[in-house]
Amino acid sequence: MHSLITPTKFAVLALCGLLAISLGLYKSAESAEQMSAKTQNEPLVTDCYESREGYTTVTRVEGAVPQYGYPNIKCSQKTGAVLWYGDPYEGTVPMGEMPEITDATRGNYANAVVKPREPRLMYFNMGPDGCKTCHDGKTVPAPKNKKPRELAMHQDIVENSMQLMHGRGSLWCLDCHSATDRNKLENRQGVQIGFNQPQRLCGTCHGELYIDWRAGIHGKRTGDWAANGKKRWWVCTECHNPHTVQVNRFNPIKQEAPPALPRGMKNADHERMPHGEH
Ligand code: HEC
Ligand code: HEC
Ligand code: HEC
Ligand code: HEC
Repeated sequence: MHSLITPTKFAVLALCGLLAISLGLYKSAESAEQMSAKTQNEPLVTDCYESREGYTTVTRVEGAVPQYGYPNIKCSQKTGAVLWYGDPYEGTVPMGEMPEITDATRGNYANAVVKPREPRLMYFNMGPDGCKTCHDGKTVPAPKNKKPRELAMHQDIVENSMQLMHGRGSLWCLDCHSATDRNKLENRQGVQIGFNQPQRLCGTCHGELYIDWRAGIHGKRTGDWAANGKKRWWVCTECHNPHTVQVNRFNPIKQEAPPALPRGMKNADHERMPHGEH
C-alpha cells in the first residue's frame, strides 16, 4: 500500500501520458474525419464526453480560442469522446480550500481549478432548490435513522439500495449524503461538503488516493508545468460513479482506430519484428 508507484497508479499515469501524446496527433486525424463527414453529408458530432459517459458532456463551440481560431474541444467522430482541447479551462472554477490536506502548495489553491459538478446532476437542474425541491423535510420526510432500507425512488441512480455497489455492504447513502441538507454531501465526521468538491468526501475514506490525486499521481490533470502555474484537476466523480464502483471501478474511454499506414506501405509487419532482428 505504501510503495510510491503501484501497478494501478502506473496504469493511470501511463494512460494520462498517452492521452497527452495523442492530443497533438489527433488534431490532424480529426480534421480528416471532419472532411469525410462533410463529403458524406453526415452531421459532425459536437457533443462529446471527457471521461464518465453521460456525466461529463461538453459541446463544441467554434472560435472559442479567438487568438488561434480554435474550437474549445474536438470530438472523436467514432467514440464520442473528447480528443483534443483548445481550452481545457473552459467552465472551470477554483478547486477551493481542502482543509484536510497539507501539500506542497501550503494551502495555495489559487491556480488549481476544477469543473463544477452541480450543473451535471439532473436533480440540480430541476430548479434553484435542487434536491430540496423534494427533500424539504415535508414533501419527503427526513429519514428516521441511518439504517439501510429499500427505496422507492432513485432506482435510476441506485438500482437496488439494499445492494449498494460501493464498500462491499459497509456503506449507506447517508455515509455520503447529508440527512439534513440534501444539497450537500457529508463525510463520516459530520462535515458538510458541496457537490463541487467530491474529492473531500472521497478523501475521508480513501486518504492515500486523495493525497496522490492532489499531487497529480492519481487521476488526471492538465495545464501549466510550473509548480504554481494554472492547472485543471479532474475530480473523482468525473471518472468514478460513486454508486457503482464495486461492479465497475472505471469505464475506460473507447479506443480510437490506429492511424492509417503511410501511402504505399502494405502492412506494419516491420513494427512487429522481435527485438535484435533489425
Ligand atoms: C422528485 C423528488 C426528489 C428529488 C428532486 C430528489 N429526491 Fe431523493 N428521494 C426522494 C424520495 C421520495 C425518497 C424516499 C424514497 C423512499 O423512502 O422509498 C428519496 C430518498 C433519497 C435518499 C435516501 C435517504 C433518505 O432520505 O431516505 C437519498 C440519499 C436521496 N434521496 C438523495 C437525493 C439527492 C442527492 C438529490 C439531489 C441530487 C435528490 N435525492 C433529489 C425524492 C427526490
Ligand atoms: C460513497 C458515497 C456515496 C454513497 C454511498 C451514495 N452516494 Fe449518491 N452521490 C454521491 C456523490 C459524490 C454524488 C455526486 C456524483 C457526481 O458528481 O457525479 C452523488 C449523487 C447522487 C444523486 C444525484 C445523481 C444525479 O445524477 O442527479 C442521487 C439521487 C443520489 N446520489 C442518491 C443516492 C442514494 C439514494 C444512495 C443510497 C442508496 C446514495 N446516493 C449513496 C455519493 C454517494
Ligand atoms: C464512508 C467511506 C467511503 C467513502 C466516503 C467513499 N468510499 Fe470508496 N470505498 C469505500 C470502501 C469501504 C470500499 C471497499 C474497499 C475494499 O473492498 O477494499 C471502497 C471502494 C472504492 C473503489 C474500488 C471499488 C472496489 O470495490 O474495488 C473506488 C473506485 C472508490 N471506492 C471510489 C470512491 C469515490 C470516487 C468516492 C467519492 C465519491 C468514494 N469512494 C467515497 C469507502 C468509501
Ligand atoms: C481521470 C480519471 C480518474 C480520476 C479523476 C480519479 N480516478 Fe480513481 N481510478 C481511476 C482509474 C483508471 C483506476 C483504476 C481502475 C481499475 O483498477 O479498474 C482508479 C482506481 C481507483 C480506486 C481503486 C484503487 C485500487 O488500488 O484498487 C479508488 C479507491 C479510486 N480510484 C479513488 C479515487 C478518488 C478518491 C479520486 C479523487 C480524489 C479518484 N479516484 C480520481 C481513474 C480516476
